[in-house]
Amino acid sequence: MLEFYLNGTPIRMDDVEPDLTVLELLRERQHLCGTKEGCASGDCGACTVVVGEVDGGSLKYRAINSCIAFAGSLQGRHLVTVEGLADGETLHPVQQALVDGHGSQCGFCTQGIVMSLFCWQLNGTDRLSAQEALAGNLCRCTGYRPILDAATMLARQAPALPAWSGSPDMMACLAAMPNDVIPAETSGYRRPEDLTSLRAAMKDWPDAHVVAGATDLGLERTQALKRLPKLIDLSRVAELAAIEEGDGYLEVGAAVVYSRLQPYLKTHFPVFAALLSRLGSEQIRQRGTLGGNLGTASPIGDTLPVLLALDAQLCLLGPDAERGMPVSDFFLGYRKTALQAGEIVARIRLPFLAPQRVCKVYKVSKRWEDDISAVLGAFSFSFEAGCFRDVRLAFGGMAATPVLAPAVAAELEGRSQDAIDWSRVEASLAASFQPMSDVRASAGYRLKVAANLLRRAVVETVQPDTATRIFDHA
Ligand SMILES: Cc1cc2nc3c(=O)[nH]c(=O)nc-3n(C[C@H](O)[C@H](O)[C@H](O)COP(=O)(O)OP(=O)(O)OC[C@H]3O[C@@H](n4cnc5c(N)ncnc54)[C@H](O)[C@@H]3O)c2cc1C
Ligand code: FES
Ligand code: FES
Repeated sequence: MLEFYLNGTPIRMDDVEPDLTVLELLRERQHLCGTKEGCASGDCGACTVVVGEVDGGSLKYRAINSCIAFAGSLQGRHLVTVEGLADGETLHPVQQALVDGHGSQCGFCTQGIVMSLFCWQLNGTDRLSAQEALAGNLCRCTGYRPILDAATMLARQAPALPAWSGSPDMMACLAAMPNDVIPAETSGYRRPEDLTSLRAAMKDWPDAHVVAGATDLGLERTQALKRLPKLIDLSRVAELAAIEEGDGYLEVGAAVVYSRLQPYLKTHFPVFAALLSRLGSEQIRQRGTLGGNLGTASPIGDTLPVLLALDAQLCLLGPDAERGMPVSDFFLGYRKTALQAGEIVARIRLPFLAPQRVCKVYKVSKRWEDDISAVLGAFSFSFEAGCFRDVRLAFGGMAATPVLAPAVAAELEGRSQDAIDWSRVEASLAASFQPMSDVRASAGYRLKVAANLLRRAVVETVQPDTATRIFDHA
């Protein structure tokens, strides 16, 4: 039995397959076809819906891609779709603004844009720019200028709440709904709420897939057409959703979503926070997690080189015990990790940078927003008395795994800017890596870019004024 609210109405559904997506639930089971399927891979935003969750005595809403979210994740939540906004024949102000601004031609993307703008306005338009809120919504025919005009109109208005909003009954009912899908044992979808019930679930279902935000695993279902008969959802396990600012470190639960992590990174690792704002789109950042990024072990996982450069420590949780591991020991081969059967990543500890230590992160992709890296460079080093020391250089997109480049680091170690021989750095990069050529970039381009990113980090550190002049136009 899956229990949730849909546009203010309580819903109880039996026979929900564990890998049924929220989009399939809407279109095929609820016959609500306003929500569209474009890409079925989280890229176009046509399927955007808004999900509310009781948090600290109020309902917090976030925009997500329904095509790659599993229906079980709705348990105890409020799902809002485009059908829930208008008041009878009267359009919601977000819809009206798009009409007034001529922001819809064929209309295929429009419902997704409406939902993204609705959530953007609801959460305060100062948190994100309209452009950031819409980076995950593709419009192929109208063009973005009229859509952004509509957003400008909305930014001047207070958010209009649909009739269902603020219903104390709904909030109380949602809060009272069990965390897990009931009965969990037979539904194929379990959502434990603490480590004890997580361990029990993992023991009962050793063959289950764990899922956090499903922004990667969801594509196994919709693109690779695999069936996922047993899922253990980590998103509500309290210990995995915790963030601790400790003495000398930030420790992040593996199931903390990027949008929640971002303010902490802004305080302690601003370059990491800046990178996160380019990871996927708002819809992806509202669900994606560090644990999921590590779980994919993708050679182009954006956060992974940063974790390597910062010398992050992982805490891995097995059915009976925990163990620690530096992230540099975690990646064993192409999408192969040191996780043993039944083990997951529980926490990621990021040591704070010492005062003289510098961290630089650069993502190179074809598109600024919502695009996968061609190359990502993450570097950390101490800069003392004009020399680079304790240099850690990590790259994504250069090898089968995200990887440290100790031989290249040795070319900077103990040297001043003038003493760095860039032809040796380039030779060392070429000897360390044989990157692939694919649609994103050729091998030669990746090698050249990797060297240039390093050169940029050096210039930015030693000659910040020159760097501002050169790179602010880049
Ligand atoms: C449109 C789109 C854009 C994207 N853009 C980017 C991008 O710019 N940069 C980038 O790096 N990624 C990107 N991604 C990929 C994805 O969003 C990230 O990898 C994200 O961090 C995955 O987190 P998740 O919680 O959604 O993982 P899930 O999909 O839930 O899980 C991914 C894998 O990790 C495993 N897993 C999950 N949690 C754990 C855990 N705690 N321990 C062990 N294994 C675990 C799962 O079993 C699964 O195999 C994008 C994806 C989409 C669909
Ligand atoms: S259908 Fe394209 S993001 Fe979901
Ligand atoms: S209105 Fe046609 S794709 Fe946006």
